[in-house]
Amino acid sequence: MQQHGKSRDEVFAALAQARSGDADWKHGRTFSLVYFAGDESLELIRHAYASFIHENGLSMDAFPSLRQFEREVIKNGCEIFGGASCGSMTSGGTESILMAMKAARDWARAERGGGQTVIVPCTAHPAFDKAAHTLGLRLVKVPVGSDFRADLVATEAAIDSDTIMLVGSAFSFPHGVVDAIPALASMALSRGLLCHVDACLGGFVLAFADDPVPFDFRVPGVTSLSADLHKYGYAAKGASLVLYRDRSLRRHQFFATIDWPGGLYGSPTMAGTRPGGAIAAAWAIQQYLGRDGYVRLTRQVLASAQCLRDGIAAVPGLRLLGDARHSVIAFTGDGLDVFAVDERLRRLGWHLDRLQAPSGVQMIVSAAHRGVEEAFLADLRAVTAEVREKGLAAEADGAIYGALATMPDRELVGELVLGWLDGHDNEG
Ligand SMILES: Cc1ncc(COP(=O)(O)O)c(C=O)c1O
Repeated sequence: MQQHGKSRDEVFAALAQARSGDADWKHGRTFSLVYFAGDESLELIRHAYASFIHENGLSMDAFPSLRQFEREVIKNGCEIFGGASCGSMTSGGTESILMAMKAARDWARAERGGGQTVIVPCTAHPAFDKAAHTLGLRLVKVPVGSDFRADLVATEAAIDSDTIMLVGSAFSFPHGVVDAIPALASMALSRGLLCHVDACLGGFVLAFADDPVPFDFRVPGVTSLSADLHKYGYAAKGASLVLYRDRSLRRHQFFATIDWPGGLYGSPTMAGTRPGGAIAAAWAIQQYLGRDGYVRLTRQVLASAQCLRDGIAAVPGLRLLGDARHSVIAFTGDGLDVFAVDERLRRLGWHLDRLQAPSGVQMIVSAAHRGVEEAFLADLRAVTAEVREKGLAAEADGAIYGALATMPDRELVGELVLGWLDGHDNEG
């Protein structure tokens, strides 16, 4: 660290300079990570966040404003997702899932004398792996069918006396499909198990889409659900919901200790200090958009996604993966190297995500993509034709990624990923 502080202007200039190489999300060049609802919404959440930048959601007594915001956001969530009784705000999908898994673990300990197994489709988000690892739970992954939805026969076969919870995604990150939630929930209900729906990505799209699919508490047997406010809820980063059908289950999420010299300590979620800005911004955007705003944005997103999906399906050499009809699009190469296509798109400034097993490319469509569809499709058509005609293969990144996708020694791949993370903070 340098000895003397710099001027504000110098710091501002350095901030602006630092972001010059970042993904251009505002103009729809990136297909995940950012859910931009337009300049006015951005201005609104920026103002709300900044207004509560120092307030701490750890103490609701000190900040009744935050208590009110959080209560209202949770109440709205309970209503939007069809009748949960309670929930908590967390910092994101990973924490919401961690909390649902903790509640399941402690419920099993308290109410049914144990059990540690949670069954998830292999497409479920890695947050479940992280939670299971952290909480000492056993995660059993079942395959998905050719439609990329959880295989129900395999799920049923995996249930044993140690099982405590079944999980489905609505929708899944890799392929954007909604698992058969009614079937999973009824399987859970008939066996006295919990059923969690991971609607972190899709919740706020499915809830406001014109064409409803069953995925939330309206489905009997769903006991908890996670839905990210900082994705299609259009809030600022650091905001998600975990909701419960019954208060008695949420009780197992909480943590309290009574013998600390610092006083009695109770906290509902994983974090201690919680950013007031994230809570205030989530509340503000819901006030600003209302149901109408969410319906309008959802229509816009789904129209863009359909336009892109139709365009991709028509490109010779590309094939859509799965039958998703919402805002995630996954495709692969038909006789060509799809990572070579992705590599060339990247050079043109488009940022897509890669899939493995099978290899593919994934796009999360947001409101920022309105009006960008044709520019993207034109580039996609051009680079795909080049890759197809010249039989090109992916170079550096793509080759490594491709190798990761097919490498037989998964432990070695895991080590590689950990090494990559380790190197990230000391590259200088
Ligand atoms: C389906 C799903 N679940 C959970 C998460 C984790 O959310 P977060 O990155 O906010 O922790 C994501 C993130 O993309 C997701 O797509």
